[in-house]
Amino acid sequence: MAPSIGDDDMAERLVVSSLPLETRFPPFQLRQHGGFWFPEPILPDIVAVRAVFAPRPSDVFLLTFPKSGTTWLKALAFATVHRADHPPCAPDHPLRHRNPHDCVEFLEVPYALTPDADAFAALPSPRVIATHMPYSLLSEQIMAEGAGCKVMYVCRDPKDAFISTWLFARKTAVAAAAEAANDDEPRPVPTSFGMEEAFELFCDGRCPGGPQRPHVLSYWEASRRWPERVLFLRYEEMLGDPVGNMRKLAEFMGCAFSGEEEAAGVALEIVKLCSIGALKNVEANKSGAQNYVKNEAFFRKGLAGDWSNHMTSEMAALLDGVIEDALQGSGLAF
Ligand code: A3P
Repeated sequence: MAPSIGDDDMAERLVVSSLPLETRFPPFQLRQHGGFWFPEPILPDIVAVRAVFAPRPSDVFLLTFPKSGTTWLKALAFATVHRADHPPCAPDHPLRHRNPHDCVEFLEVPYALTPDADAFAALPSPRVIATHMPYSLLSEQIMAEGAGCKVMYVCRDPKDAFISTWLFARKTAVAAAAEAANDDEPRPVPTSFGMEEAFELFCDGRCPGGPQRPHVLSYWEASRRWPERVLFLRYEEMLGDPVGNMRKLAEFMGCAFSGEEEAAGVALEIVKLCSIGALKNVEANKSGAQNYVKNEAFFRKGLAGDWSNHMTSEMAALLDGVIEDALQGSGLAF
């Protein structure tokens, strides 16, 4: 039976309003919890996940720092696991009709609706579940001895993750401001968000999910310690060799491509189905939304190195320096 929320967790939930506050990074106020900054509305969900979510040994978790390739990873993992039921060439493939976020859910989201029950309990195994949660808040559950679950982590050059984060924040702030105006107690949402301010906040780690360094580093270290449990992928390498990375991903998930599938080019078909160009053209991704966020906002350029079109070389050097310092001695570099 899944554990239920105890008094301690309720207490943790009740003190959200007293946690350190950051109001400058739209669209939501951020609160610091366990060393990381979270959008205030999802903090109760994170507490509930820790209290009631019961992992299964067959679970596969898709882990990312925000704006590092989550949507792509969701599409690839979903298409790979379900390829027997949904061949990638099929015209009615779910990814041709639904946004990847509707195919693979975030662990921390549904608990807002049912905070006292395990929202994933009814899903058949193997479950593929995504999350941005940092290792320190999740490891007790999913990395516990005997838990058996697997984690696929995608990391991205921090400069591109920053630019993607900043542009996404600007876009969503406008939509969130419109929605907030209808609230019973309207809250101000800053809609003009300059890059300099965003950059300073990102470097300080005061951004959604931040700071990025310990987020990436802890999963990197886990992947070195338990390579059979944690697969560490890089967004830039996935762009450079999508089929090779697809093979790695399928093998890790325990559903490697057979010789027959290799001969039929199934991995390449999945890569095509999940390419940013193909997904951008799906009607649901042009017109649908996740709450107030339009689905189209999840697909921008999908490139490595776009930061150079936005950041000065001084900014890039500064962020590189911050990252280098944090990663020193870890064996991980960008
Ligand atoms: P850019 O803003 O640099 O274009 P997330 O999914 O974690 O929110 O990350 C969003 C980033 O991934 C965006 O980067 C987006 O364009 C990119 N992206 C979305 N779908 C992709 C895909 N199928 N292939 C490659 N990149 C993708």
